[in-house]
Amino acid sequence: MPFDLREIMQRSQGKQLSLLSEYINPQMAKVLKTLGFDPVYVLGQGAHLWDDKGNDYLDMLAGFGVFAVGRSHPRVKDAIRQYLDLDSPNLVKMGTQLFAGLLAQKLVEEFAPPGLDTVFFCNSGAEALDGALKFAHAYTRRKRFVYCDQGYHGLTLGTLAVNGCKEFRADYEAVLNGGTEVPFGDTARLEAELSRGDMAAFVVEPVIGHGVFIPPDDFLPKAREICSRYGTLFIADEVQTGFGRTGKLFGCDHWNVVPDIMTLSKSLSGGYCPIGAILYPRKVYEKVFSSMDRCMVHSTTFGQNDLAAVCGLITLEVIREEGLIENSALIGAYLVDRLRELAAKYELIREVRGLGLMIAIEFGEPRSLSLRTGWKMIHGIHKDLFCQSILVPLIMDHHILAQVSGHGRDIIKLIPPLVFDHADADRFIAAFDQVLAAAHRFPGPIWEVGSRLARVALR
Ligand SMILES: Cc1ncc(COP(=O)(O)O)c(C=O)c1O
Repeated sequence: MPFDLREIMQRSQGKQLSLLSEYINPQMAKVLKTLGFDPVYVLGQGAHLWDDKGNDYLDMLAGFGVFAVGRSHPRVKDAIRQYLDLDSPNLVKMGTQLFAGLLAQKLVEEFAPPGLDTVFFCNSGAEALDGALKFAHAYTRRKRFVYCDQGYHGLTLGTLAVNGCKEFRADYEAVLNGGTEVPFGDTARLEAELSRGDMAAFVVEPVIGHGVFIPPDDFLPKAREICSRYGTLFIADEVQTGFGRTGKLFGCDHWNVVPDIMTLSKSLSGGYCPIGAILYPRKVYEKVFSSMDRCMVHSTTFGQNDLAAVCGLITLEVIREEGLIENSALIGAYLVDRLRELAAKYELIREVRGLGLMIAIEFGEPRSLSLRTGWKMIHGIHKDLFCQSILVPLIMDHHILAQVSGHGRDIIKLIPPLVFDHADADRFIAAFDQVLAAAHRFPGPIWEVGSRLARVALR
């Protein structure tokens, strides 16, 4: 029988959750079901998903940020089809890859900050960070790394050592080595650590993804200067902020900071293929790959994958030619303005912050007595429940997909595709307004959602 993907899809449609539950991650399946995040999606285009009943969902999650150019972008699809028809010799390994080479050239010549003239390709954000940490050690011969409180750089053993989110480290502390945490924004603490002279690298997201924390304006420039003074490499983790997410090409560009090493992933392949990249200077390369017999001292089998590179080549063109960086700045500012209008109206919102299309809505304990009762009740049961109670009606009643940002924090995060437009933004604001209005009635439906979730969680 011929392999007929459409037929397989139609025959198996609706089995997604049971397959996840049976073979991949039963706990995740339970969470999705409990929260109502279990529609059977059958189509994804641009900033939208459609379920099997024909409902149109607004995707404000973008696959954790990979679909910067939107889902199923026709030019990315066309490039992939063209590539498949070439029967091109991919992954020769003891040989060379044309498209990976061309993507490296494009990144260096058209995108990289000055001085970052060499590219290492890998398959994920964490892998890019892991490699960057190794490179920093090879260059400096130092053993320690500084990272920021709340910073997130992946979940491999190496990157966990520089992960500022305690919930991911718990259970693994005994096997994590070499990381020291400083508060995001605190240059005095950073200098105190670096002045000991044993720090290989300072690793930082220009805007912290978990919670969307934007640094004080002087933080990154001063950190850059301190790193240079003490011979510590500055690693900018642009896995999430890179390629227009914050309304500039790179997050670092908001503060005119040039890092020693930059890590990239997520948006780079248009969402179709795993890809990660490290941009770094030749002087660091020479310390890592220091002789012919060390030419593969750091490598990964699927690195320099031509298919991923083709996706990268076309994605970078789309980002530039369709003005997605500018759109991110424009629509992001519009969304933040509209959200701040809601913040003035609703006491549960403590703060709205964002850069480009990387936006956080942080909630806080309300002043009025009845709402405070609900707030305390729900936080007493579980510290993550409140935001979930907002997200459940957003997805179930308004078909809007968004996420809680990290554990134990009352923050909802929005990272829609960079093709998001005014109509999408208005649809979100109208829906969010209704959900917030309901949340400001206690007792009321939102608080009942919280109680229901609590009962399920306790069971
Ligand atoms: C800033 C940052 N660095 C690294 C990572 C890890 O990337 P991956 O999940 O591809 O390993 C992420 C993922 O969300 C991220 O946001």
